[in-house]
Amino acid sequence: MATIDWDSLGFDAYRTRTVVVAHYQDGAWSDIRLDESFSFTIDPFMQGLHYAISCFEGLKTFRQKDGSIAMFRPEKNAARMARSAAFLGIPAPTEDMFIRMCALCVKNNLEFLPPYGHQASMYLRPLLFAPHPQMQLVPYPEAIFAVMCAPAGSYYGAHLRSAAAVIPGDFDRAAPKGTGSYKLSANYAGTFVPYKLAHAQGYAELLYLNSATREYVDEFGSSNFFGIKGDTYVTPLSDSVLPSITNLTLQEVAADLGMRVEKRPVPLEELAGFSEAGGCGTAVVITPISHIDMKPVLAEPLVSRTFRYGPDGEVGPVCTKLYKRITGIQFGELEDTHGWCHKIEE
Ligand code: PLP
Ligand code: COI
Repeated sequence: MATIDWDSLGFDAYRTRTVVVAHYQDGAWSDIRLDESFSFTIDPFMQGLHYAISCFEGLKTFRQKDGSIAMFRPEKNAARMARSAAFLGIPAPTEDMFIRMCALCVKNNLEFLPPYGHQASMYLRPLLFAPHPQMQLVPYPEAIFAVMCAPAGSYYGAHLRSAAAVIPGDFDRAAPKGTGSYKLSANYAGTFVPYKLAHAQGYAELLYLNSATREYVDEFGSSNFFGIKGDTYVTPLSDSVLPSITNLTLQEVAADLGMRVEKRPVPLEELAGFSEAGGCGTAVVITPISHIDMKPVLAEPLVSRTFRYGPDGEVGPVCTKLYKRITGIQFGELEDTHGWCHKIEE
């Protein structure tokens, strides 16, 4: 039995017991394999490494108040992975296979599923990549689908604590008609150095603008953006933003709470008009934003604008309400009226 301090979990890669693996070759998926070696044998020429033919998903599983186990909206992740795979030109697992392998990963790593009451969950990381050795820039019908997991607490080190963000004047995330709306591994590669620079300057997050005109808000490096204006939940409509399942859920939660929901282009100027702003995603859940600076991250002192939310980084009432509602449903404390919790039998 693993001895884990459930209350101090962050968000990290973790060596659990089992990775669940399937291999698509010669027109069909292999049997599902439970791998305890925690290693892959790969060809040095594989497309996944050279050309980033790789995509992934992230979803959470919760030990609920009544003792049952629930994955959160896994069918949405299955559909998003199928869309990413189609973009890359590689085979994707069916929805049934995706959900079955995620459930198998949970069941075969149960000792790493945080008990109820610790604000922690099990993060599932389904990964799909192209193992075929190839120099040509064309798709090849082979893929490895692997589901791994990690016990997870808070992404930024504390739950519902506000974080500072920077709009990096010298980096973009995604091109119009490019890869931004797909959950491709490659999308994250360009964020590592700007994140490092931003962290060194005291910012937890990067807020990217649309790269074509830099006049509209796109999303954070790790999550979607939302702003609160009166009783309205506003979130960007953009074809270079990842369609976040948490954001979709929050839009439904906000409507349930009697709020208006607007999904539309969000001009940069509008950042000055929100009473609260936040990031939302599986890993970050809801992260309220204390302020957003605009500056080049390669040049330290040059802040050109600042947008502030709440006095002294205080977490606003709407972020708090949304956070309590979504986590309440996930932990089985509130009724799951939309049928979002996919139960797993032990
Ligand atoms: N945007 C980006 C760039 C992300 O990496 C994520 C994380 O998955 C999200 C948004 C949020 O998506 P979801 O809520 O489906 O996790
Ligand atoms: C997730 O929230 O699932 C993600 O993949 C975001 C990543 C930056 C950890």
